[in-house]
Amino acid sequence: MAKKKEYTCVLVETDGEGITWITFNRPEKRNAMSPTLHVEMEEILFGLETDEDTKVIVLTGAGNSWSAGMDLKQYFRETDKDPVGRFRAATAHRRWATELLTWSRKPSIAMVNGYCYGGAFVSLAACDIVIAAENATFGLSEVNWGIIPGGNVSKVFGDMVSYRNALFYAMTGRTIDGRKAVELGIATLSVPAEKLREETVAIARELMAKSPMVLAYTKQAIRAVRGMDMDQAYEYLGAKSMALRAADPEQTRARGMREFLDEKKFRPGLEPLKRPVSEK
Ligand code: ACO
Repeated sequence: MAKKKEYTCVLVETDGEGITWITFNRPEKRNAMSPTLHVEMEEILFGLETDEDTKVIVLTGAGNSWSAGMDLKQYFRETDKDPVGRFRAATAHRRWATELLTWSRKPSIAMVNGYCYGGAFVSLAACDIVIAAENATFGLSEVNWGIIPGGNVSKVFGDMVSYRNALFYAMTGRTIDGRKAVELGIATLSVPAEKLREETVAIARELMAKSPMVLAYTKQAIRAVRGMDMDQAYEYLGAKSMALRAADPEQTRARGMREFLDEKKFRPGLEPLKRPVSEK
């Protein structure tokens, strides 16, 4: 690893290729998200956004869990009588998951290696791609704790799955394995546990072979239009397209057309654009 930093609840490692691995690191508590974890994640993601060595962000968990959701002891019970502590933790969570991760210009992958419950769905949904181990376990267990899926869990879950499934899984708290998570729209793909890291690295490399600026604009566009009507989306996408042409330092659009139309050496319909390393 080229860079490594260990926080109290999170481990951050950047390899020589450009993948930054963020590992929720409380395996003894199944990576439940404590107030400290939220504050650390806010600092980490803020820093990675402008870290030139980070091309792709991968979120995973130490041990057999991705994250068992909010820490029922430290996040809920211990802050019931500490409104300042609760506000700090909730705001840090909102900032790192809903703002920094969702709107990061860097591609993000959730590599789900085990349990993913409740509050963990917000950061899961914030990632662009979710690769789950087939034996991972997802669930909205809030109903078992006498609470609703708050902190935007109901919103992000309802945006990923159908209305019927949102009601069903929120009301029963039933668990979902990796394959079923793909079927429901929670995960992008599922693979056997022993292939999880290999598949994640392969997808990260695929992303790193593309123009970072084009990827950033693409993910922003897909996310932004979700809340728009057709006319708004049309106008927004027109403006966003022009903005990309002006902002792209690699002029990927012009290069792609030249290579396809003039030089006849590029057929993206047959093979995704692979940039020579020297041009990255
Ligand atoms: N909050 C706080 N502590 C937790 C959490 C959590 N969400 N999940 C696990 N832990 C702790 C346990 O209390 C236990 O601590 P201890 O060793 O001090 O007793 C430790 O992690 C290990 O947990 P076990 O239950 O012993 O581990 P096991 O592997 O058998 O089960 C599982 C793991 C399935 C994740 C189980 O711990 C569980 O059901 N956790 C609750 C998951 C949940 O409902 N999350 C949603 C919370 S609500 C929300 O996010 C909004």
